[in-house]
Amino acid sequence: MEKLSISDMAVFCKSKGFVYPNSEIYNGVSGLFDYGPLGTELKNNIKQDWWKTFVQERDDIYGLDGCILSHQDIWKSSGHVEFFEDIMVECTKCKERTRADNLIEDKLKIPAEGLNATDINKIIKENKLACPKCKSELKEAENFNLMFNTSIGPVQNNSSVSYLRPETAQLIFADFKAISETMRVKLPFGIAQAGKAFRNEISPRDFLFRTREFEQMEIEFFLRKDQHNKCPYLKQVQNIKINLLTAAQQKKKEKHKEIKINEMLKEKMLTEWHAYWLSISYKWFLDLGINKEKLRIREHLKKELSHYSSATFDIEYLFPMGWKEIHGNANRGNFDLMQHKKFSKENLDIFDEEAKQKILPEVIEPSQGLDRAFLSFMFDSYNFDKKRGNVVLKLHPKISPYKAAIFPLVNKLDNDARKVYNLLKKDLNCFYDTKGSIGKRYARMDEIGTPICITIDFQTKEDSTVTLRDRDTTKQVRIKVDELKDSILKILNK
Ligand code: GLY
Repeated sequence: MEKLSISDMAVFCKSKGFVYPNSEIYNGVSGLFDYGPLGTELKNNIKQDWWKTFVQERDDIYGLDGCILSHQDIWKSSGHVEFFEDIMVECTKCKERTRADNLIEDKLKIPAEGLNATDINKIIKENKLACPKCKSELKEAENFNLMFNTSIGPVQNNSSVSYLRPETAQLIFADFKAISETMRVKLPFGIAQAGKAFRNEISPRDFLFRTREFEQMEIEFFLRKDQHNKCPYLKQVQNIKINLLTAAQQKKKEKHKEIKINEMLKEKMLTEWHAYWLSISYKWFLDLGINKEKLRIREHLKKELSHYSSATFDIEYLFPMGWKEIHGNANRGNFDLMQHKKFSKENLDIFDEEAKQKILPEVIEPSQGLDRAFLSFMFDSYNFDKKRGNVVLKLHPKISPYKAAIFPLVNKLDNDARKVYNLLKKDLNCFYDTKGSIGKRYARMDEIGTPICITIDFQTKEDSTVTLRDRDTTKQVRIKVDELKDSILKILNK
């Protein structure tokens, strides 16, 4: 198979132990997936790299691991109880509920995200759109809130109502006061959180792309209003080349263009700190090996902007189902802190040394979907090698589930090979395989993205050398066992 569809990818992920449909023995639940042994490793590696890059290697970002359940007022203040809705249409006959913008996009091939119910009803009537399942007439479109309700404690009443968090961001705002009081912060600074979020999607679709349970990796970067255009790191990013699709280009149905982030600033499309966060988030994908032709930044149209945002840019990946958002980067102003200040009646202003006064900071939010990153890395690395006759998953070695595989050429060399395996596995996630010909063992590792295969043969006994085979080139070199760990670490960090 050369060109993969999204359902082919789901089959591939299941067959190789990356991702399984949840509750499959009970016929599954739409929009829920479990990560298998290989998927768990890949997902954890992506998350760790993100955390290392954006939290541990910086001195202006603090980490947080907040609760999934919270006080209901967090979600009232944030606007989610009132506004976190998609528009659905229900069939008058079979009662199937469908996300209205998806229906319009699928049937009419026009963008429909952000349309209101009135526009949607008009389009449905004009184009005589019917139920996608039974073709009967549809009811008028209505709003559907995407939050999962639950209740906290043994008594169920209005005050016990709670929700599974639909984003990690609000926990950051709710803990902003605690973090700023305990961590001796100085503006600008950020708070990062990676963890689960839940959305009761009307029509989950496209495998891991739109699910009901997923993970986010979000940063809220707090700054004073007058700091937006004072980013000291701008030099590091201004020459990064990006593919940009502006709102104006979308209106004229033009394609994206390659530009430098600097040009966006000249056009005043965004502020300096916003440009910085957008470009380092884009660069993170490139650094992990994503093909630059399949990555672009798309400016939100005015009508698409979330209730809290004054400017949003999505990073999109070209999937088989088209360009789709894998990261959102928004200027949230001080909407959230202001709301929490109002609802909680707590003073969330912090004293700023430079301004010599208490202020309520504004926020730039880089928001990353982990499962969507996973999906884009899977598609991007998937190659069917005709010569080899097998898939080669060219994952960046940093995120590959296994860093190396160790094989004894023949079973007689098992003891010698296990010594090498034991030496490496303390520091690197390695796989040991004795089954089948060496060719078959190489192919199995190619398919799951293992960058290095190490074979122990009869020469190993004589001179303590092994062969090291590169996944992408299939080239082999002989190397001393003593030098193995360093050589592998070099490859992993390239
Ligand atoms: N925090 C932004 C989002 O979840 O989309």
